[in-house]
Amino acid sequence: MRPDRSFSAWSGDTLLPSGVAINPGAAAHCVQDYQRSVVFIRGLKAALTVCQQRFPDEPIRVMYAGCGPYGTLLLPLLANLPAPRFEFYLIDIHQESIDSVARLVAGLELNYHSIHLICDDACRYQHPRPWHLIVAETMQKSLEQEPQFAVTANLASQLLPEGLFLPERIEVSLHLSSACEKIALGTVFELTPRLAAEQAATARAADHGSSPALPGTIVTIPQLEKPGDYQAVLQTRIDVFGQHRLNSGDAEITLPLCCEDLTPPTPASSYACQYRLGSYPKFEIASVE
Ligand SMILES: C[S@@+](CC[C@H](N)C(=O)[O-])C[C@H]1O[C@@H](n2cnc3c(N)ncnc32)[C@H](O)[C@@H]1O
Repeated sequence: MRPDRSFSAWSGDTLLPSGVAINPGAAAHCVQDYQRSVVFIRGLKAALTVCQQRFPDEPIRVMYAGCGPYGTLLLPLLANLPAPRFEFYLIDIHQESIDSVARLVAGLELNYHSIHLICDDACRYQHPRPWHLIVAETMQKSLEQEPQFAVTANLASQLLPEGLFLPERIEVSLHLSSACEKIALGTVFELTPRLAAEQAATARAADHGSSPALPGTIVTIPQLEKPGDYQAVLQTRIDVFGQHRLNSGDAEITLPLCCEDLTPPTPASSYACQYRLGSYPKFEIASVE
């Protein structure tokens, strides 16, 4: 095949103020990040069971944010769930993905469930009633590029006090890696749903620009015999629900990400590591004088 000079890797992506919503074709490929899909589906299954026990007398409102064209994390579970107990809401910014999920729901004869498909921005969407369970998967490794943080901040604040949010926690940590060893420098950010809205508000209050940063972490490089042998990497761990978790390297969304800002590392020097929000969320690392 000849390279297409007009090809744009961003084609069909939607550039939101809080991150990039990847296009429906790219989102479809997420299903093939198999370990990711399996662990999220298992975690969601377990959370749905907990919700049935925790809220025995009311319909359980479930929000799936960033459902993509296949509704991958939820649709495989629907056939085995008691329909009257749940109201499902699936949201995606791309109408094409919403239309695709509608065709799947009809084709798989799952219409006996209460399923609501919404084309909207999950970073802003407000529901008139609080949620019992939310699952959001709008992320890449190291929480870069996609708006997982902003989606979490917006939706987690709409959760019932006893409600559940998946993933329960996402941790990004910084390491030095060589062919022979790995040295942990520390956790640089933890995304915990109940804290996210406050973190976002604090960052916006401190910086009124379009890309405020969350408070940073300082890391210090240890003494190294051959600093040039080391590469700094950000690692991601995702605690989906209970024992269902993805460690670094388990899935594409937890692959280590090289930090060019900190390579090669200078022994005994300190660096500030900050998560910058905005249209392309990412970690920034700068030397501290
Ligand atoms: C990484 S894909 C994951 C798709 C699906 N969750 C799966 O597991 O296969 C992320 C999806 O989230 C959607 N998305 C990203 N940001 C969004 C936002 N702010 N509001 C609604 N949908 C969003 C994208 O359009 C895309 O379909």
